[in-house]
Amino acid sequence: MKKKTIADVDVHRKRVLVRVDFNVPFEEGTARISDDTRIRAVLPTIRHLIANQARTILCSHLGRPQGQVVEKMRLAPVARRLGEILGSPVFYVQDCVGPTVEKAAIELQPGEVLLLENLRFHPEEEANDTSFAKTLSSLADIYVNDAFGTAHRAHASTVGVANYLPAVAGYLIERELAMLGTTLESPARPFAAVLGGAKVSDKIAVLENLLKRVDVLVIGGGMATTFLKARGFEVGRSLLAEDKIAFASALMKYVEERRLSLYLPQDLVVASSFKGDAPYRVVDADEIPPDHYIMDIGPKTLSLYENVLKGCRTILWNGTMGVFEWKPFASGTRGIAQLLANLPNATTVVGGGSTAEAVDSLGLAQRMTHVSTGGGASLEFLEGKTLPGVAVLMDKT
Ligand code: 3PG
Repeated sequence: MKKKTIADVDVHRKRVLVRVDFNVPFEEGTARISDDTRIRAVLPTIRHLIANQARTILCSHLGRPQGQVVEKMRLAPVARRLGEILGSPVFYVQDCVGPTVEKAAIELQPGEVLLLENLRFHPEEEANDTSFAKTLSSLADIYVNDAFGTAHRAHASTVGVANYLPAVAGYLIERELAMLGTTLESPARPFAAVLGGAKVSDKIAVLENLLKRVDVLVIGGGMATTFLKARGFEVGRSLLAEDKIAFASALMKYVEERRLSLYLPQDLVVASSFKGDAPYRVVDADEIPPDHYIMDIGPKTLSLYENVLKGCRTILWNGTMGVFEWKPFASGTRGIAQLLANLPNATTVVGGGSTAEAVDSLGLAQRMTHVSTGGGASLEFLEGKTLPGVAVLMDKT
């Protein structure tokens, strides 16, 4: 069922409470935001509200302060950055409930924007406490959820408030659902999923859901280890999910029966220790030395994957191909990112979290059809789960 969006309600001069995901990264030990993608991602919603003379009350979490005030997790730097981007002041209060907040919300003029303090300074937020949700909702006439990255959490500001206010989706949530939803439900074919990341156990539910939908499955990253082992290869000292080998074997059998295409690494970059500066070399999959670690897919594998993916019309990518944070082991991930960025006729959708960070750090995010702002949220969506922060929004009639 499609959800009502901000375009379906009259926000003119109304007080609108907007849940955003301003959980942004900072340069180590500073108040400098290192990546403002999540702030820019909700600009269409904020600009729509400003243009309609709404009184915009933004709320978000930042980090995991465990229900206490943590100075370095205040949202003041985010208010400043948003103000710079908008070119107009963003008011900011040092709490998200209480008399100061109520006063600021009442005094807010049409077209003005206010950012409340980190919701998670109050334990009631994560507990989805009823009276906390009620207090938050009393600040506004309408509720907009545009925090796709937090839509998998059933918290007071993502779920509870929807019991007390007309609740609609913002433009970011609308776009995320449209892009991820279309990819899963009606992809142009052939449809390939490229899955990587450290552990196969994180991707079991995604694999199960995607297998019903894809034509091609390409596997890399640490999770490939379990598949290689299930194929009978030795994997050295690489992290191996022993208890998932049977799952990997069953999956490969299913793929064969359904005549789907599954690709595993043919060669790998291996290192003698699990360190960024460890000596490394490229070996074939059947030659992994017993005392080495798999760090990345090899060049032969990359060119095989490139050839396969070039023929696909929809590519969904979630999970890095190697230990991307360490330069010597970043080639596989960089290669896949560059390939996707240069496919003119394919829809390319990148799951959030570390894959989005990798694509972003390579300066290639703009060249993908869609890069999700959700880490856990996009993963849960790809698993086929209903996101509670979306479920509570009003259905389109
Ligand atoms: C994220 O960064 O994935 C979201 O902001 C959710 O954060 P959380 O995992 O702390 O709930």
